[in-house]
Amino acid sequence: MRTIAYTLLALAAPILPALGQANVTGNCVTGRLNFDALRIFRSDPSVAVPPAAPIPSGGTVANYDFSLNLGTIEFESNNTGRIFVKREATGPAIGTKVSSSRYVLYGSITARLRAVPQAGVVTTFITMSDRHDEIDWEITGGDTRTAQSNVFYKGIQEFGVHGAVHNIPNGGSVADFHDYTIEWRSDRIRWLIDGVEQRSLARESSTSPMTPPGERWFPSTPSLFQISVWDGGSSDSEGTRSWAGGPIQWGAAQNLSALYQYVDVQCYDDQNRPVPAWPATTPARGATLNNTTPLTAPNATSGGHTVLAQPTALPPPPPGNKNAASTSGAVEVVSTVMSGSKAALAALFVAVLAVGL
Ligand SMILES: *[C@@H]1O[C@H](CO)[C@@H](O)[C@H](O)[C@H]1NC(C)=O
Ligand SMILES: *[C@@H]1O[C@H](CO)[C@@H](O)[C@H](O)[C@H]1NC(C)=O
Ligand SMILES: *[C@@H]1O[C@H](CO)[C@@H](O)[C@H](O)[C@H]1NC(C)=O
Ligand SMILES: *[C@@H]1O[C@H](CO)[C@@H](O)[C@H](O)[C@H]1NC(C)=O
Ligand SMILES: *[C@@H]1O[C@H](CO)[C@@H](O)[C@H](O)[C@H]1NC(C)=O
Repeated sequence: MRTIAYTLLALAAPILPALGQANVTGNCVTGRLNFDALRIFRSDPSVAVPPAAPIPSGGTVANYDFSLNLGTIEFESNNTGRIFVKREATGPAIGTKVSSSRYVLYGSITARLRAVPQAGVVTTFITMSDRHDEIDWEITGGDTRTAQSNVFYKGIQEFGVHGAVHNIPNGGSVADFHDYTIEWRSDRIRWLIDGVEQRSLARESSTSPMTPPGERWFPSTPSLFQISVWDGGSSDSEGTRSWAGGPIQWGAAQNLSALYQYVDVQCYDDQNRPVPAWPATTPARGATLNNTTPLTAPNATSGGHTVLAQPTALPPPPPGNKNAASTSGAVEVVSTVMSGSKAALAALFVAVLAVGL
């Protein structure tokens, strides 16, 4: 196995600025994104990297599939990306954050990932817009049977209202690979695990105490998607520490890592119809099918990106779910939502993600 590690130690700032791509109105390309050393942009070309491979640097981030914002990623020989949370002698461990380089404004995004099953570590797959609209999958490693969904609007810090906790289908564990999907339409968001709907949130009914008057608590601006792992157990916030499961019990380990096999992107147009790219004029670039074809960065184009299977129409709500019965709820939770104090605690502190990195 040959791995190539890129480390961006310089970017240890807890909160990263936007990527300098403001005003992009979306440049989505449908296809599967693997984790390929040639397809990830580093904003700082001076960072030392192993010289074994041609390393893209400089140029425009939009010429790449991903951008490494923080931390360490290794590219395994089978196109899987391994992202690390690395122990520090003192203080919080250094996590990793990787962002897509293209913006999605409505579409279906699925990440196949294996989370870190360790209390204190948070593994994520989210969308994030420049104004901090956000749709989340978050996994706290102390509870290997559940994943959490959440949604934020304009970066407003309202907790305990918009999150929900979902059992991994079939008694599964987050320590195994699962497909986590965010289906983001202009009128509805759905969260799925392994193709099974866990939650559905209608735009029209999404409001809350902190929603600005006349608006809906609903992401509606072009968003990057991001994957990350981070040390929630060492957060300054006690709520975040409890939510994450407390301090990481490192034992002899110096690092822990999550695996991301791929991200499938299906762009939707402004009528929520699946399309190869959006806007239609978006150049078909970047979406690599595999890394066996040598790519020359930063101008690499794979040409024939994969158009994924078209999603079917929204299924009718299952009988007796809260969706159908909902009259005033801000959050419609379709799935099995955990009960018990642990779930209640989790729900209280869901989605510290954006502030966590
Ligand atoms: C984005 O648009 C706003 C408003 O039109 C403008 O003031 C700003 O300079 C633009 N930013 C970039 C990076 O082009
Ligand atoms: C390849 O992918 C599998 C998951 O299918 C993963 O478990 C494994 O660690 C990856 N890396 C290598 C080098 O096989
Ligand atoms: C992770 O820890 C292992 C075992 O200590 C070590 O061999 C490896 O180099 C570390 N990887 C990173 C990226 O720190
Ligand atoms: C990799 O992609 C190339 C170009 O699309 C294709 O010809 C080749 O069959 C693919 N290889 C694998 C192993 O998928
Ligand atoms: C990359 O693209 C730019 C703009 O299209 C072009 O000027 C340049 O020659 C290209 N570089 C390579 C290495 O193909």
